[in-house]
Amino acid sequence: MFMEITRFRCAQVVHFGPGAVARLGDEIGRLGAERAALLTDPGVRAAGLVEQVLKNIPVPVEVFAEVEPEPPYPLVMRATAFIKACGAQVVIGLGGGSSMDVAKMSAAMTANPGTVADYWGVDRLPRRGLPVIAIPTTAGTSSEISPAAVFIDPESRTKRGVNSSHLLPMVAILDPELTLGLPPHLTASTGMDALTHAIEAYTSPRASLLTEGTAERGIQLIGQFLRRAYARGQDLEARTGMFAGCFFAGMALAEVNVGAVHGLAQALGGCFPVGHGLANALFLPYVMAFNRIACREKYARVAALLGEPIEGFSLDEASAMGVEAVRRLTQDLAIPQRLRDIGVPRELLDAVAQSCMESQQRVLGNNPRAVTLAQARAILEEAW
Ligand SMILES: [Fe+2]
Repeated sequence: MFMEITRFRCAQVVHFGPGAVARLGDEIGRLGAERAALLTDPGVRAAGLVEQVLKNIPVPVEVFAEVEPEPPYPLVMRATAFIKACGAQVVIGLGGGSSMDVAKMSAAMTANPGTVADYWGVDRLPRRGLPVIAIPTTAGTSSEISPAAVFIDPESRTKRGVNSSHLLPMVAILDPELTLGLPPHLTASTGMDALTHAIEAYTSPRASLLTEGTAERGIQLIGQFLRRAYARGQDLEARTGMFAGCFFAGMALAEVNVGAVHGLAQALGGCFPVGHGLANALFLPYVMAFNRIACREKYARVAALLGEPIEGFSLDEASAMGVEAVRRLTQDLAIPQRLRDIGVPRELLDAVAQSCMESQQRVLGNNPRAVTLAQARAILEEAW
């Protein structure tokens, strides 16, 4: 074990801490950009965050605020046209994963022919595009430091990903003050997305000595701070801790990728309108219960990292405590516990299971336990 060469990737420069957005002007200067395009979504604009960021941009800038949640990939092509039309030399992605993914991919598409659908999968983008500065407004996706971008493919009605070193942002600015106004339900779902990244990366068969260390720290910090950030949004220490936890989770995720929780969530997201974080949060305890026999040592460690007193318990008990600790966290955060609670019709489950097997083989291959169609269907039934 651990005898293979592993790769580790992250954004080139990371600024972290309350007020870090003030570093934006320096970074634009360092990149030599004289015009900027800022990509965001209507919610971020309504929250007043666009003005807060614009104050720190010392060059002419145009704003594209049309990013939708769970964006379909044709939106990327519209954003690319916008970037080219305004002659931008740097692309700033401001928002959650959707805005940052659109910023990363549309910046790349300024230098690559064809359309996003030509590049699904790993390492298929030939060239790096315009530099990207990613500024997250949620502690969740880690898109700000990662080489991945995920979109809905309207043809196959599923979520698909592009993963390329050319998608790594040049700069990530993690300013927890930008997350103070995030409402509790979004704090919960995005924070659970980050926890899912940390746990899925931690237990992946591809985990390395490098990623295990960051995944563990991610799990511990999210366990320590997510309830507080949810309970009182203005708790700056908790918001800062969540950004750090999300950062460590993302460092593990970038190389190792996710597993069956994301596989099911992404398959569901293609068939039913549900946010990425919420779908992951809902599936996480069910998939952990399924996976547990494959990774009892690591789930026992998850239990300890989440503050469970595992001493004196057997491996079987301690690993089950890891699953239960995650389930209790979702309950404290008022995450819906069943698919029926969010309106998923039972008749849809066959299609979701089928789509998961067809479109999510890449992430299912990272799951600690092999998943058959019948098992995917059984997990969905359990979660329904
Ligand atoms: Fe995710």
